[in-house]
Amino acid sequence: MANQAITAKRKIILDCDPGLDDAIAILLAARNPHIELVGVTIVAGNVGLDKTTLNALKVCELAGLTHVPVARGADRPLLREPVAADYVHGESGIGGVVLPDPVKASINRHAVDFLIDTLMESDGDITLVPIGPLTNIALAMRKEPRILSKIQEIVIMGGGTFGNITPSAEFNFYADAEAARVVLASGAPITMIGLDLTHQAVATEAVKERIASLDNHISRFILELLGFYEVIYKERGLPGAAVHDPCCVAYCIDPTLFTTKLLRVDIETRGELSYGMSVIDTYGVTGKQPNVRVALTLDHERFWSMLTDTMKEYA
Ligand code: RIB
Ligand code: CA
Repeated sequence: MANQAITAKRKIILDCDPGLDDAIAILLAARNPHIELVGVTIVAGNVGLDKTTLNALKVCELAGLTHVPVARGADRPLLREPVAADYVHGESGIGGVVLPDPVKASINRHAVDFLIDTLMESDGDITLVPIGPLTNIALAMRKEPRILSKIQEIVIMGGGTFGNITPSAEFNFYADAEAARVVLASGAPITMIGLDLTHQAVATEAVKERIASLDNHISRFILELLGFYEVIYKERGLPGAAVHDPCCVAYCIDPTLFTTKLLRVDIETRGELSYGMSVIDTYGVTGKQPNVRVALTLDHERFWSMLTDTMKEYA
């Protein structure tokens, strides 16, 4: 990684709900030479906003991101009652991992205002990377529609052809389906990294051995996160944890690791059994205009090499 000619860094804002896999996404974004992390905005999701904010501040400091603004955002979805995933991420939101209390606090601006101000002041060269419920992004679009012309791309972790919190819905879209509907219908350039893709990024025993061989404080931290995260995945028959959120950062670093297809995707917001479902029109049978670039395949060898190469930067 160190010898690659670095082209201009890609500017991203991570909107997240740390979250075990969110934490790994922050670590990847912080040290990969192709990424400039402009800001971190926080949303309630895996656990409540106070905990997702505290976890983000702790992980950002672990990653050495003392200069990157962290902004608190929505503490509940647009309409529905909040749901959480503490049964996956633990009561703290980052499993049993203990990190020092953060020195820095979140900034005094709401995440929605930070998103709007930063995008409006930009040259239109910022990619939004929402890896939690889409509440902040939807609120920013509603409060200041002009940001749509300023967003380079939105690379979303969410959706898929199957569910992980209900049989039909993925957690981020299920946690605020109305927000997901607003964002996917916005007309912004959207890439959707759904469960069909992220379940190709499984931290198997062989992957964990590669991470262990790095033998630094970050690799040991990631192994702790994975040790907690993998329990539910192994109960569900996977060989390890599917690390969803880092896939979005990897896409921003090198989209050639992925194959994608421009498809029509709508979000169900009224179904009793299908609330939060991403309805993907694979064969174009609706005749509706495609609105989302859906990630289909991942080169998982190159993905794990990218992650482990970047973790070497923490040595
Ligand atoms: O469904 C997986 C997504 O929900 C990930 O972003 C995970 O962190 C949780 O937020
Ligand atoms: Ca997340």
